[in-house]
Amino acid sequence: MMDEEDFDFRERWREESRRMFDTSEAKKAFENVFDHRTQRALLKLADRKVLERLYGTIESGKESVVFLADTPDGERVLVKIYMTRAGNFREMKQYLQGDKRFRNVKDDRWSIITEWCRKEYRNLQKARNVVRCPEPIDTEDNILVMEFIGEDFRPYPKLKDVEIENPEFGYERVIDGIERLWRQEELVHGDLSEYNILVEEDELVLIDFSQGIHKTHPRAQELLRRDIEQVADFFEKQGSETDPQKAFERIFSGEEAL
Ligand SMILES: Nc1ncnc2c1ncn2[C@@H]1O[C@H](COP(=O)(O)OP(=O)(O)OP(=O)(O)O)[C@@H](O)[C@H]1O
Ligand SMILES: [Mg+2]
Repeated sequence: MMDEEDFDFRERWREESRRMFDTSEAKKAFENVFDHRTQRALLKLADRKVLERLYGTIESGKESVVFLADTPDGERVLVKIYMTRAGNFREMKQYLQGDKRFRNVKDDRWSIITEWCRKEYRNLQKARNVVRCPEPIDTEDNILVMEFIGEDFRPYPKLKDVEIENPEFGYERVIDGIERLWRQEELVHGDLSEYNILVEEDELVLIDFSQGIHKTHPRAQELLRRDIEQVADFFEKQGSETDPQKAFERIFSGEEAL
């Protein structure tokens, strides 16, 4: 049975979504994956004047679908929407529970996914103080709106797809970023690799902070080491000399000295 509120919402969605989505394909791409709760969240962001127009998806991963959109001011933004059907909820919960900022997450999928989204938002807020990363703009339930790192409709390329001129410099930059995140913001990215770094002219932009955890998390040290090793592996293949063990010790012992 559909109650009156549901009925009203459906009507509202039908009307407003037609205006919001650039094409019927874009609307379909959204409706095929997302349920009423996500529709409501999207309309709330429109009510708050965060989003006005939605374009199609640029990528869909295991856990999220990424759309381009415009704000009412005509600024292009990226909208990352977490799926409630897919995803490794057990692992997400483990990441959340060990983090003192998110310890009390409830057990259902919707709670886990909305906290996960909030975590990425908060991580970006912190990371922005010390590295180049997308500026978080707003979040509602499982939807995260952030600065678009790209031009027009094209995201800047991923590090893995770029011809690198100076791998030593790149390696130093990323390790320096990892160090700043750890020392100044007490944060580990947790999924850093050439897949989650975009190349914006001469600058490297770190993205995808959803797995980021506070340095007091039981897995923080392990993930710090893994981030460093993955980055070192990549730049080593590009011809840079790297010493991930030394980088790890330096960064980690910095914390001891504090
Ligand atoms: N702010 C952004 N600006 C431009 N492109 C982006 C931005 N955020 C994400 N992208 C593009 O969308 C892709 C997927 O985003 P992201 O890496 O955040 O999600 P994911 O890999 O699906 O991660 P997860 O599901 O683990 O959170 C990126 O690889 C990148 O190409
Ligand atoms: Mg990614």
